[in-house]
Amino acid sequence: MKAIILVGGEGTRLRPLTYSVVKPMVPVVNRPFIEHVILKLAAHGINDIVLAMGYKPDSIFAYFKDGAGAGIKLSYSLEEKPLGTAGAVKNAGGHVEDTFFVLNGDTFSDIDYTEMLAFHRRNRALATIALSYVDDPTRFGVVETDKSGRVKAFIEKPTRDRVTSNWINAGVYILQPSVLGCIPDNQFFMFEKGVFPPLLERGERVFGYAVKSYWIDMGRPSQYHQLNCDVLRGLCSSPLYSVKDITIEQRCSVHPSARITGPAIINNGCNIAEDAVIIGPAVIGSNCIIGKGAVIENSVLWDDIIVGAGASITGSIIASGAKIEENARLEDLTVNQDAPSDPITKKI
Ligand code: GTP
Repeated sequence: MKAIILVGGEGTRLRPLTYSVVKPMVPVVNRPFIEHVILKLAAHGINDIVLAMGYKPDSIFAYFKDGAGAGIKLSYSLEEKPLGTAGAVKNAGGHVEDTFFVLNGDTFSDIDYTEMLAFHRRNRALATIALSYVDDPTRFGVVETDKSGRVKAFIEKPTRDRVTSNWINAGVYILQPSVLGCIPDNQFFMFEKGVFPPLLERGERVFGYAVKSYWIDMGRPSQYHQLNCDVLRGLCSSPLYSVKDITIEQRCSVHPSARITGPAIINNGCNIAEDAVIIGPAVIGSNCIIGKGAVIENSVLWDDIIVGAGASITGSIIASGAKIEENARLEDLTVNQDAPSDPITKKI
């Protein structure tokens, strides 16, 4: 089965954390975010995957080439101008002949795609929208359904007094190919505004698949940090990570006096000096040097980072190549070496 993943319009970055790394390639427990998403789809037999993208994705090509592992076919659909979520699907949908999935490429979930497909088929739906339950739906698109799951209304980013449901559009759809007929070629078009409401008005069979499962929109650094911690703790699953208290990959040197409390993962080639303390949840990328007596707690470090002796890093995200000075104190910060004017930015 086919899935189209929307990986973004021009310049998709996890600002202020990354300028040079595009959002799909941001590491989650040391593997690109989008690789987790692709392998989760493949685990449900959805292994013909199109990445729809609107920017020059050299790093994505270089990493995946034309596959993402055994039996997974990966292709790319490029846009010359921003087409919006639906426009991008139309642009990518040339070869869609059967029921297909669409995923927003910046959300991560434990949605059971197999069960969602069965729900879609049982209801003979034209479109099925996965719904996620959130405490505060005011930042999202709220979807109202009747008891059978049939969608009654969409309310985009309601003010607090207009909240009628906590179920929001989770950015995962199953569509019949005929939906592509409602989207004009080569024009900016969004599902939330241009496709789903007109389908409702025409009385088409649009359903909401509402199941309480893990879901996060990793559009902000704080949510990205949360996602890493949640994968480490096993609150959500990924075929790329088996939950373990402490994982130390190859070629690492850990001084016997260093203390590590899980959940923590330390990637290849790291050097953890004497008396260093790592308190999970903690992710440490490859080739990092953690200096004598340094403390890393509840933080995500990417690759090639040097943490000076006695430094302490808490609740922070550090992008690749950063050098943290001796005895520095970092709390709830994002550090980005490739943002020359603002290497250390605000709270995450
Ligand atoms: P807000 O609703 O504005 O908060 O942003 P959002 O990122 O949650 O939603 P949006 O509907 O803008 O985007 C949903 C997903 O579609 C994201 O993964 C975007 O990267 C992706 N996306 C948005 N516009 C385009 C586009 O023109 N082309 C492609 N290929 N993907 C897009």
